[in-house]
Amino acid sequence: MRLTIDRDRLLQELERLATFSEVPAPSVTRIVFSREDLAARDYVTDLCVAADLTIRQDAVGNTFARWTGQDPNAAAVGTGSHIDAIPNAGRYDGTVGVLGGLEAIRALKQSAFRPKRSLDLIMFTSEEPTRFGIGCLGSRLLAGNLDASVDEKLKDKDGKTLRQVRMEAGFGGTLANVRLQSGRYSSFLELHIEQGTLLERGQTAIGVVTAIAAPASLRIWIGGEGGHAGGVPMPDRRDALCAAAEVVLAVESAAKSTAAVDTVATTGVCDVFPSAVNSIPSRVQLQIDIRDIDGDRRERVRSAIEEAAGNVSKRRGVETRIELINADAPGQCDPGIVDVAARACSTHNLPFKRMVSRAYHDSLFMSRVVPTGMIFIPCRGGISHHPDEYASPEAIGNGTLVLAEALAELAS
Ligand code: HGY
Ligand code: MN
Ligand code: MN
Repeated sequence: MRLTIDRDRLLQELERLATFSEVPAPSVTRIVFSREDLAARDYVTDLCVAADLTIRQDAVGNTFARWTGQDPNAAAVGTGSHIDAIPNAGRYDGTVGVLGGLEAIRALKQSAFRPKRSLDLIMFTSEEPTRFGIGCLGSRLLAGNLDASVDEKLKDKDGKTLRQVRMEAGFGGTLANVRLQSGRYSSFLELHIEQGTLLERGQTAIGVVTAIAAPASLRIWIGGEGGHAGGVPMPDRRDALCAAAEVVLAVESAAKSTAAVDTVATTGVCDVFPSAVNSIPSRVQLQIDIRDIDGDRRERVRSAIEEAAGNVSKRRGVETRIELINADAPGQCDPGIVDVAARACSTHNLPFKRMVSRAYHDSLFMSRVVPTGMIFIPCRGGISHHPDEYASPEAIGNGTLVLAEALAELAS
């Protein structure tokens, strides 16, 4: 089967998609259900309609663009990723999997291939945790990992509930209907940039993912006593930010203590109140991200962090409150799908390596309910979640070609 990827068109579409952003190029900020996100969704959906795909959207805005197969009742094959972007991110995280997935389907349509199974391009809602504090919101709901109660429970920083925000964005209906009926998909395969340096360092064209790291995230509130920066002598202080600083360093040392390269922990958010130069911080909120491919080891790091926060609280006389946002098990890719992706690489003489993903993805939750795989392409310096994120035209073309070949086998 001769497959032709229209790389120039795909690159133009990625460039155009990057313009839907709250911040000027080269950065991209596209927060779920923002004006920019909705415009970007319309852009991608229009491209899917132009490719003769039929569109379905669920109550949380997951979007499914279908090429109906010769056996429309057979379990379908899914591919896709996300287009939301964290603040000041790059232009390839997620978007390569959505637009590359569309291009893979277009290339198959132009070839002699006709799918037995329907092929769905899926654009997942809110893969990033930015607005509602938890990542992979759309794929969690599809996999039944979250229930409909999050509609009222999850709130953004303005106190708006997920329900209010999704309804204002035009997504009605009930979250209870989002969950995938069993047997809807026979397989799912996501194309994504590596967000690491293994492929680039090894000069390997493709990564075939075998497992996806287990993410956990915490919020830690620290309550001290505020006061006048001039008037309160040092011994009398209960400075919430100094306490938080000790917790932040404890997060770092807990992760380093396992000496395993796959254990990582990050304090990415530190909100200080009242945040005035001449006022002693009275409250701090930390948001902490902990990951490991080994779920038990990750849990040991999490409890070490919680214990350290307790000790800081006692020593400094501040209150601490810890909220567990999520603590997910690692994801295993389906060995059969891994082999299909590996075969697709060999068919196109592209060197590949089996590897673990230390970033999480919608595939982590799709793997709970559908045989799932991921295809990685190198990104320069492993840089991601940063405006310098870059994947070369060649890498994007290779990944899309391998994806198209693998989808053809899965949908036959
Ligand atoms: O944080 C992650 O791993 C993903 O890029 N949201
Ligand atoms: Mn990301
Ligand atoms: Mn991503």
